[in-house]
Amino acid sequence: MVIKIEPLDTRKHVRDSFSCGKDSLDNYIRKQASQNLKRRVATVFALFDELDFHVLAYYTLSSFTVDIAALDETFAKRLPRYPLLPATLLGRLAVDNRHKGKRFGELMLMDALKKSLDASKQVASLAVIAEALDKQALRFYEKYGFQPFKQNPMKLYLPLKSIRVVRKLR
Ligand SMILES: CC(C)(COP(=O)(O)OP(=O)(O)OC[C@H]1O[C@@H](n2cnc3c(N)ncnc32)[C@H](O)[C@@H]1OP(=O)(O)O)[C@@H](O)C(=O)NCCC(=O)NCCS
Repeated sequence: MVIKIEPLDTRKHVRDSFSCGKDSLDNYIRKQASQNLKRRVATVFALFDELDFHVLAYYTLSSFTVDIAALDETFAKRLPRYPLLPATLLGRLAVDNRHKGKRFGELMLMDALKKSLDASKQVASLAVIAEALDKQALRFYEKYGFQPFKQNPMKLYLPLKSIRVVRKLR
Protein backbone atom coordinates (compact mmCIF):
# COMPACT_ATOMS: atom_id res chain seq x y z
CA MET A 1 0.00 0.00 0.00
CA VAL A 2 1.30 3.45 -0.95
CA ILE A 3 -0.92 6.15 0.49
CA LYS A 4 -1.42 9.70 -0.70
CA ILE A 5 -3.88 12.56 -0.01
CA GLU A 6 -5.16 14.51 -3.01
CA PRO A 7 -8.23 16.53 -3.99
CA LEU A 8 -10.85 13.98 -5.06
CA ASP A 9 -10.63 13.20 -8.77
CA THR A 10 -13.80 11.32 -9.66
CA ARG A 11 -12.23 9.95 -12.88
CA LYS A 12 -9.26 8.51 -11.02
CA HIS A 13 -10.24 7.59 -7.46
CA VAL A 14 -12.27 4.39 -6.93
CA ARG A 15 -15.20 4.95 -4.56
CA ASP A 16 -17.76 2.24 -5.34
CA SER A 17 -16.82 -0.03 -2.45
CA PHE A 18 -16.18 2.69 0.16
CA SER A 19 -17.91 1.70 3.39
CA CYS A 20 -17.43 3.40 6.76
CA GLY A 21 -20.55 2.17 8.58
CA LYS A 22 -22.55 5.35 8.02
CA ASP A 23 -24.79 5.22 4.93
CA SER A 24 -24.93 9.00 4.55
CA LEU A 25 -21.11 9.21 4.40
CA ASP A 26 -20.82 6.23 2.03
CA ASN A 27 -23.47 7.63 -0.34
CA TYR A 28 -21.84 11.02 -0.25
CA ILE A 29 -18.44 9.86 -1.52
CA ARG A 30 -19.98 7.42 -4.01
CA LYS A 31 -22.66 9.68 -5.50
CA GLN A 32 -22.81 13.26 -4.22
CA ALA A 33 -19.19 14.37 -3.90
CA SER A 34 -18.65 15.07 -7.60
CA GLN A 35 -21.74 17.35 -7.76
CA ASN A 36 -20.60 19.24 -4.67
CA LEU A 37 -17.17 19.70 -6.22
CA LYS A 38 -18.63 20.95 -9.51
CA ARG A 39 -20.97 23.38 -7.72
CA ARG A 40 -18.23 24.58 -5.36
CA VAL A 41 -20.27 23.64 -2.30
CA ALA A 42 -17.38 21.72 -0.75
CA THR A 43 -13.84 20.62 -1.51
CA VAL A 44 -13.26 16.89 -1.07
CA PHE A 45 -9.88 15.37 -0.20
CA ALA A 46 -9.25 11.66 -0.56
CA LEU A 47 -6.67 9.39 1.02
CA PHE A 48 -6.09 6.64 -1.53
CA ASP A 49 -3.83 3.73 -2.31
CA GLU A 50 -1.59 4.65 -5.25
CA LEU A 51 -1.41 0.98 -6.25
CA ASP A 52 -5.13 0.59 -7.04
CA PHE A 53 -6.58 4.13 -6.51
CA HIS A 54 -9.15 2.91 -3.96
CA VAL A 55 -10.31 5.64 -1.57
CA LEU A 56 -9.41 4.69 2.02
CA ALA A 57 -10.68 7.87 3.72
CA TYR A 58 -11.99 11.29 2.83
CA TYR A 59 -12.98 14.66 4.27
CA THR A 60 -14.76 17.78 3.04
CA LEU A 61 -14.13 21.48 3.71
CA SER A 62 -16.38 24.51 3.09
CA SER A 63 -16.71 28.12 4.16
CA PHE A 64 -19.08 28.57 7.05
CA THR A 65 -20.34 31.13 9.54
CA VAL A 66 -20.75 30.73 13.26
CA ASP A 67 -23.11 32.52 15.63
CA ILE A 68 -21.08 34.29 18.31
CA ALA A 69 -23.73 33.45 20.93
CA ALA A 70 -23.06 29.73 20.46
CA LEU A 71 -19.39 29.99 21.39
CA ASP A 72 -17.83 29.52 24.80
CA GLU A 73 -17.61 32.89 26.67
CA THR A 74 -13.84 32.75 27.19
CA PHE A 75 -13.31 32.41 23.43
CA ALA A 76 -16.17 34.78 22.44
CA LYS A 77 -15.13 37.64 24.73
CA ARG A 78 -12.00 38.30 22.67
CA LEU A 79 -13.98 38.47 19.42
CA PRO A 80 -15.72 41.45 17.80
CA ARG A 81 -19.49 41.54 18.48
CA TYR A 82 -20.52 40.67 14.93
CA PRO A 83 -23.57 38.38 14.90
CA LEU A 84 -21.92 35.96 12.47
CA LEU A 85 -18.23 35.18 12.31
CA PRO A 86 -16.22 33.35 9.62
CA ALA A 87 -15.34 29.69 10.09
CA THR A 88 -14.39 26.56 8.14
CA LEU A 89 -16.68 23.55 8.06
CA LEU A 90 -15.15 20.09 8.22
CA GLY A 91 -18.47 18.72 7.00
CA ARG A 92 -17.55 15.06 6.66
CA LEU A 93 -14.68 12.81 7.71
CA ALA A 94 -14.75 9.07 7.18
CA VAL A 95 -12.40 6.10 7.10
CA ASP A 96 -13.25 2.87 5.27
CA ASN A 97 -14.08 0.03 7.72
CA ARG A 98 -11.20 -2.11 6.40
CA HIS A 99 -8.74 0.61 7.36
CA LYS A 100 -10.01 1.87 10.71
CA GLY A 101 -7.57 1.91 13.60
CA LYS A 102 -4.55 2.65 11.34
CA ARG A 103 -4.50 6.34 12.35
CA PHE A 104 -5.93 7.36 8.97
CA GLY A 105 -8.67 9.31 10.80
CA GLU A 106 -6.01 11.25 12.68
CA LEU A 107 -3.94 11.77 9.53
CA MET A 108 -6.98 13.16 7.67
CA LEU A 109 -7.97 15.40 10.57
CA MET A 110 -4.42 16.85 10.79
CA ASP A 111 -4.39 17.39 7.02
CA ALA A 112 -7.79 19.14 7.19
CA LEU A 113 -6.62 21.38 10.06
CA LYS A 114 -3.41 22.30 8.23
CA LYS A 115 -5.32 23.14 5.05
CA SER A 116 -7.85 25.19 7.08
CA LEU A 117 -5.06 27.09 8.81
CA ASP A 118 -3.21 27.78 5.56
CA ALA A 119 -6.43 28.91 3.82
CA SER A 120 -7.31 31.23 6.73
CA LYS A 121 -4.24 33.33 5.86
CA GLN A 122 -5.97 34.22 2.57
CA VAL A 123 -9.65 34.18 3.62
CA ALA A 124 -10.13 34.70 7.36
CA SER A 125 -11.61 31.94 9.49
CA LEU A 126 -11.51 31.73 13.26
CA ALA A 127 -12.39 28.10 13.86
CA VAL A 128 -12.92 24.70 12.30
CA ILE A 129 -16.42 23.35 12.89
CA ALA A 130 -17.21 19.63 12.83
CA GLU A 131 -20.46 17.74 13.18
CA ALA A 132 -20.41 14.40 14.99
CA LEU A 133 -22.89 11.81 13.76
CA ASP A 134 -22.79 9.85 17.01
CA LYS A 135 -21.19 9.79 20.46
CA GLN A 136 -18.12 7.89 19.21
CA ALA A 137 -17.41 10.53 16.60
CA LEU A 138 -17.90 13.16 19.32
CA ARG A 139 -15.23 11.47 21.45
CA PHE A 140 -12.90 11.29 18.45
CA TYR A 141 -13.12 15.06 17.87
CA GLU A 142 -12.89 15.90 21.59
CA LYS A 143 -9.66 13.91 21.76
CA TYR A 144 -8.11 16.51 19.45
CA GLY A 145 -9.33 19.54 21.41
CA PHE A 146 -12.68 20.25 19.70
CA GLN A 147 -15.24 21.77 22.09
CA PRO A 148 -18.99 21.15 21.80
CA PHE A 149 -21.28 24.12 21.08
CA LYS A 150 -23.45 25.12 24.03
CA GLN A 151 -26.81 24.63 22.28
CA ASN A 152 -25.86 21.61 20.19
CA PRO A 153 -23.27 19.31 21.77
CA MET A 154 -23.03 17.17 18.59
CA LYS A 155 -21.53 20.18 16.80
CA LEU A 156 -17.99 21.10 17.81
CA TYR A 157 -15.41 23.78 17.13
CA LEU A 158 -11.66 24.15 17.33
CA PRO A 159 -10.29 27.72 17.32
CA LEU A 160 -7.65 28.03 14.58
CA LYS A 161 -5.57 30.04 17.04
CA SER A 162 -5.09 26.92 19.15
CA ILE A 163 -3.72 25.05 16.11
CA ARG A 164 -1.06 27.70 15.70
CA VAL A 165 -0.03 27.28 19.36
CA VAL A 166 0.48 23.54 18.90
CA ARG A 167 2.61 24.13 15.80
CA LYS A 168 4.78 26.67 17.61
CA LEU A 169 5.59 24.16 20.35
CA ARG A 170 7.00 21.63 17.87
C1 LIG B 1 -14.10 8.37 13.61
C2 LIG B 1 -13.13 7.83 12.55
C3 LIG B 1 -12.91 8.91 11.46
C4 LIG B 1 -11.78 7.46 13.20
O1 LIG B 1 -10.88 6.98 12.23
P1 LIG B 1 -9.74 5.88 12.53
O2 LIG B 1 -8.79 5.89 11.40
O3 LIG B 1 -10.38 4.57 12.84
O4 LIG B 1 -9.08 6.43 13.86
P2 LIG B 1 -7.50 6.51 14.16
O5 LIG B 1 -6.87 5.19 13.93
O6 LIG B 1 -6.91 7.66 13.42
O7 LIG B 1 -7.52 6.82 15.72
C5 LIG B 1 -6.92 7.95 16.28
C6 LIG B 1 -7.33 8.03 17.73
O8 LIG B 1 -8.76 8.22 17.84
C7 LIG B 1 -9.35 7.18 18.62
N1 LIG B 1 -10.61 6.82 17.99
C8 LIG B 1 -10.80 6.28 16.79
N2 LIG B 1 -12.10 6.05 16.55
C9 LIG B 1 -12.75 6.47 17.66
C10 LIG B 1 -14.10 6.49 18.05
N3 LIG B 1 -15.05 6.04 17.21
N4 LIG B 1 -14.40 6.96 19.28
C11 LIG B 1 -13.45 7.41 20.10
N5 LIG B 1 -12.14 7.43 19.79
C12 LIG B 1 -11.80 6.96 18.59
C13 LIG B 1 -8.36 6.03 18.54
O9 LIG B 1 -8.49 5.15 19.64
C14 LIG B 1 -7.04 6.75 18.53
O10 LIG B 1 -6.75 7.16 19.87
P3 LIG B 1 -5.34 6.89 20.61
O11 LIG B 1 -4.43 8.01 20.15
O12 LIG B 1 -5.68 7.01 22.05
O13 LIG B 1 -4.87 5.56 20.18
C15 LIG B 1 -13.68 6.52 11.88
O14 LIG B 1 -13.98 5.60 12.89
C16 LIG B 1 -14.92 6.68 11.03
O15 LIG B 1 -14.83 6.88 9.82
N6 LIG B 1 -16.13 6.57 11.62
C17 LIG B 1 -17.40 6.58 10.89
C18 LIG B 1 -17.69 7.94 10.31
C19 LIG B 1 -17.75 9.04 11.36
O16 LIG B 1 -18.37 8.90 12.39
N7 LIG B 1 -17.08 10.19 11.03
C20 LIG B 1 -16.99 11.35 11.92
C21 LIG B 1 -18.20 12.25 11.86
S1 LIG B 1 -18.59 12.91 10.27
